[in-house]
Amino acid sequence: MAEHINLLLVDDENDFRQILAKRLTRRGMYVREADRGEKALQMMEEQPVDIVILDIKMPGLDGIECLQRIKANHDMTEVIMLTGHADVHGGVTGIKSGAFDYLTKPVELEHLIRKIKQAHHKIQRILAEKEEAAFKERIQQQMVVAERLVALGTMASGVAHEINNPLAVIQDSAGWLHQILEKPEMQNMPRIDDFKKGLNRINTAVKRAGKITQQLLQAVKTQTTEMVDPSTFVEVSLKKLTDEAITLVEPEASLKNIGITLESCEPHPIAWTDPLQLLQVLLNLLSNAIQATDAGGRVTMILAASLEEAKIIVKDTGCGISKENISRIFEPFFTTKEADQGTGMGLYVSWGIITGLGGLISVESEIDKGTTFTITLPVKK
Ligand SMILES: Nc1ncnc2c1ncn2[C@@H]1O[C@H](COP(=O)(O)OP(=O)(O)OP(=O)(O)O)[C@@H](O)[C@H]1O
Ligand SMILES: [Mg+2]
Repeated sequence: MAEHINLLLVDDENDFRQILAKRLTRRGMYVREADRGEKALQMMEEQPVDIVILDIKMPGLDGIECLQRIKANHDMTEVIMLTGHADVHGGVTGIKSGAFDYLTKPVELEHLIRKIKQAHHKIQRILAEKEEAAFKERIQQQMVVAERLVALGTMASGVAHEINNPLAVIQDSAGWLHQILEKPEMQNMPRIDDFKKGLNRINTAVKRAGKITQQLLQAVKTQTTEMVDPSTFVEVSLKKLTDEAITLVEPEASLKNIGITLESCEPHPIAWTDPLQLLQVLLNLLSNAIQATDAGGRVTMILAASLEEAKIIVKDTGCGISKENISRIFEPFFTTKEADQGTGMGLYVSWGIITGLGGLISVESEIDKGTTFTITLPVKK
């Protein structure tokens, strides 16, 4: 543990400082030295330090001022003050200004090392607390997003359900009118072709609307089932599946002169998942990436794995997503595309599938630079 401690020894008494530095180095610590407070502050800007051992009485910037500046600018650094034999007051002032502790000179080496270790423990404890707080915050954010999406999905699927019935009536009626128009006695009807064209348009629109409601109902069903049917789970070679997805979108990409590359760690990651559903997500992400990228751009897929999880990253050099939009892209029906180009269901469906597969999907984006989607999936234990 001691070898990880980064120390900065600040004292204007050269002999004392050099001997102490040597002894602490021998005890496995990484020690740097400064003979002035100003120099110490400069060294800390260049390279972070865990613990500063700081003499109170120095020419120029004195120990207390130096301590105050360290505390103002380096909140993860602890400071142990060294005071003269009769200077208890200085030590107390140091503690009030945020020093970890103070020792009086002459310094007893073992005592100092004990203090250094205590200060190091404190730093590690604070670091662990910070990491835990950040982790909790992340989970909390994901839960807020998930709750909103589930609520939106429930509402939208209610609407979809209601719309399905009138849609069926429209489709039946259009079919029925079409049959009537085909009858021999109707063949002389004026503008019969215009009627047929109109009916065809109704048919196409009804099919499109039906597809949307079906996707929506499917997506909501996937999320509300505890885990998607686990009997569909198999060990899936992500390399094979991404190769397949790339082959399917290649024609669309080469039309726009966009290159798609795949980088994979070795051995190739294997996820424990439903390949058909995952393929659908990959196709959604790839087609979004291709649509967002100008001719000559690039889409990169990266596969990675650890003992705990497998990752698929889809990265493009496209237009990026604005800050206002990025929090909404997973919502059902959120789209920035023309009505005939997108329904805004792709990412909502993908989110539902990945959540149902026990995974996570996240996004990072920068306007005019590009967008990166990351899927994290479980591996077989
Ligand atoms: N790679 C990307 N780069 C830039 N914007 C993106 C990207 N992926 C998604 N978006 C944004 O998120 C919106 C929602 O995407 P989503 O896939 O859900 O729907 P869509 O592509 O608009 O329509 P659909 O997928 O239903 O045809 C898109 O309209 C676009 O604004
Ligand atoms: Mg899409």
